[in-house]
Amino acid sequence: MRTRTGAQAPINDGPERKDLDHNQATAEGRLLNSSTLLNIAKCLILIIIIPPFLNYASLQREGQMLLPKDGQIVDIGLGQKMHLLCKGKGKPVVILDAPTGMSSDVWLHVQESVAAITKVCTYDRTGLGFSKRLMQNETSGTEKFWGMSTTGRMVDDLYRLLQTAEIAKPFILVGSELGALNSRFYSHIYDVQVSDLVLIDPIPEELFEEDEWKDYWYGKLLPSLQVRQFSAATGLSRMLIILGAIEPTIKGGENVSEEFMQRQKYLLSNPAHQSSAVDEHYFLNESAAQVRDISKFKPLTSRIPVSVITGDSFDQQIPEQLNQMVAELQKKFLEETCPSANHIHIKGADRRMIYKKPSVISQHLRKLVNQRQGQQQRE
Ligand SMILES: *[C@@H]1O[C@H](CO)[C@@H](O)[C@H](O)[C@H]1NC(C)=O
Ligand SMILES: *[C@@H]1O[C@H](CO)[C@@H](O)[C@H](O)[C@H]1NC(C)=O
Ligand SMILES: *[C@@H]1O[C@H](CO)[C@@H](O)[C@H](O)[C@H]1NC(C)=O
Repeated sequence: MRTRTGAQAPINDGPERKDLDHNQATAEGRLLNSSTLLNIAKCLILIIIIPPFLNYASLQREGQMLLPKDGQIVDIGLGQKMHLLCKGKGKPVVILDAPTGMSSDVWLHVQESVAAITKVCTYDRTGLGFSKRLMQNETSGTEKFWGMSTTGRMVDDLYRLLQTAEIAKPFILVGSELGALNSRFYSHIYDVQVSDLVLIDPIPEELFEEDEWKDYWYGKLLPSLQVRQFSAATGLSRMLIILGAIEPTIKGGENVSEEFMQRQKYLLSNPAHQSSAVDEHYFLNESAAQVRDISKFKPLTSRIPVSVITGDSFDQQIPEQLNQMVAELQKKFLEETCPSANHIHIKGADRRMIYKKPSVISQHLRKLVNQRQGQQQRE
């Protein structure tokens, strides 16, 4: 017996009568076959098309809903709009610049605590968070000189942002990792605008001259961030978040609102944000080189007091010898570049201290603010 649904009927068999049967059977088989194939293809298309489409639609909606309550979008000229988030009242203003690839959200706890005594502002660097990157044909042209995601370009943006938003000067400038490179660069160029400089986990300029570090950074860290970018673009990240397979960096809990958690998920699923995070990591060696050059060209004025905050290691999740490498270069940086810096060590902390151990950082910032406020009153 020949099965009618058989996919492959034998080709050469017997007399005409049977052939007719055969033809009919294969035709039906083909029909059935092609309809199954069609269904499979439809499913595949659904699986490939639907998640990115749904993700994209959700991103549009969330992008408008999740802008922080106190956040403002500032047009810093030439069409570039940036997200500035200020809390509290008073002087001196504290400006917070986030670590590599991170949005202003990372400062949540520090900002809340410092806002009790003065005005404290953070922002999203271009491409991250709510600071949308412009199309290539709309940009100001500064990125052609500096490179898109490098310190020179970011400092130019920050300068224009603080001018446009009329932030009172001088301010206390605080940066972590790439934010520390930016803060240093800013203080070298616009030294009269900065009263105090605070560097959290500074990236020593020479780090990217070490092959072992470059192997880690470009061979391990960067590919993992590129996977995250791809996963965001395909809508996979959103599905994984819904399934609970990936979680936001800052865990929920006391003093963390539901909206804040939603915003972190939004940024995890946002390919534009993820792509800028990749770029900031990719160009970190260029950023470090720019800061090295500016330090030679225009040294930091001794008028600006510097404090440096570090933990036990740079990152608890990377091999010990890499941490030692960072620690040695940081020590060298402290001795050679800012020997009079106030060095604060936080026990048990690494680069996640801003959100995991925020209290030592906020205490130090409040102390600096109190000192400056005391001086203001005496004057
Ligand atoms: C830039 O290019 C995009 C598409 O490529 C276009 O929609 C937009 O109008 C252009 N902007 C300017 C200022 O030319
Ligand atoms: C939450 O905020 C309150 C008031 O600002 C503070 O006293 C408390 O320590 C905070 N809790 C945590 C876990 O940060
Ligand atoms: C940074 O790294 C890239 C890629 O490895 C390389 O092409 C570039 O020359 C490096 N830049 C500096 C300043 O070292």
